[in-house]
Amino acid sequence: MKRNVFIALLATASLTYACQQGANKGETGATTSDSIEQASFDAVIDGKDVKLYALQNDRLRVTLTNYGARLVSLNVKGKEGEETDVILGYDTADEFKQNASNYYGAIVGRYGNRIGNASFTLDGATYELEKNNGENSLHGGTNGVFNKVWTVEQSSDRAITLAYTSPDGEAGYPGTVTMKVTYSLTDEGGLVIDYEGSTDKETVLNLTNHAYFNLNGEGDSTILDHELQIDADAITEVDAALIPTGKSLTVAGTAFDFRKPQTIGSRIDTDNEQLKVGKGYDHNFELVKGEGFRKVATVYAPKTGIEMQILTTEPGLQFYSGNFMTDSDPKGKGGKGYPFRSAFCLETQHFPDSPNQPSFPSTVLKPGEQYTTKTEYRFFVK
Ligand code: BGC
Repeated sequence: MKRNVFIALLATASLTYACQQGANKGETGATTSDSIEQASFDAVIDGKDVKLYALQNDRLRVTLTNYGARLVSLNVKGKEGEETDVILGYDTADEFKQNASNYYGAIVGRYGNRIGNASFTLDGATYELEKNNGENSLHGGTNGVFNKVWTVEQSSDRAITLAYTSPDGEAGYPGTVTMKVTYSLTDEGGLVIDYEGSTDKETVLNLTNHAYFNLNGEGDSTILDHELQIDADAITEVDAALIPTGKSLTVAGTAFDFRKPQTIGSRIDTDNEQLKVGKGYDHNFELVKGEGFRKVATVYAPKTGIEMQILTTEPGLQFYSGNFMTDSDPKGKGGKGYPFRSAFCLETQHFPDSPNQPSFPSTVLKPGEQYTTKTEYRFFVK
């Protein structure tokens, strides 16, 4: 008999899900088997209902919210049926809103990552964005899509599609952009994220998910013991404000060489200019070119035996080792602390500042074109 019983409740305008534990079988309502409670999670943001949704199969149990189309929890089931929640987050939608600028679990954009000088020129026009990171724009500005209430277009216990239409000029970006993100589970332990977008005017688009992972389980421990492997021969060199200089740096012989598995902590504090500017790893890894959807990275946590593989269609992977997290960051789920380097992000995306860097793969989207990208986080317990 399954340990968790999943019940889908059809509400008038949207589908709301509640996970029940075997012990709760027969009760309706809203308790997930971790600490997040449906009823206390829900909120109204910008006049719209924000709710918690769930996906579940034998390997994974995931909760999400339509606020920022974001992952709230990602439980990996172990050999004995035990569950480890491997992403950071909060117990309530209101806390996600109050702390929106840490982007926990959210879809970021319209342009995930940085745009230098918060401006770019396209089709003869210059567009000014919000400077929310020094002189630069980060993750679409404070009015980005992570801070919007998305519409749930369809959902089941295996997949959910969220949609958002960003009006022409929103956060400074041209074109009315219609975007859709579908999260789905596979029988092989995968959480797949499919992104789609279209525009009515030439624009740039670079969406990614900004989950903060700790494969030891979200909470106090650092991620320095995790073993990481990335299929990248080079990183994108950045200046002191983490804006690309336009050059690529080969990883060979440096602390950025993850072509063979290395623990995140083994070289993070070595004397390296690029590590100094990032206060650790905060760099775009230029993925070895491959056709289409392919495996690009693997992370393994010896303590739990959880391995996560990353597959993507994207050319870049931003590896951020939680260097700007502080020991006094607001408490997360269940009151747990999220101190310095207690999580990492591996964001599949195009390179930072591509709209100002003609040699980088293009992020331009034109009317009539379809933006489609796909990323999968696939989990194994060893
Ligand atoms: C960036 C970091 C930033 C973090 C949170 C990451 O994608 O690379 O520099 O601190 O997001 O904003």
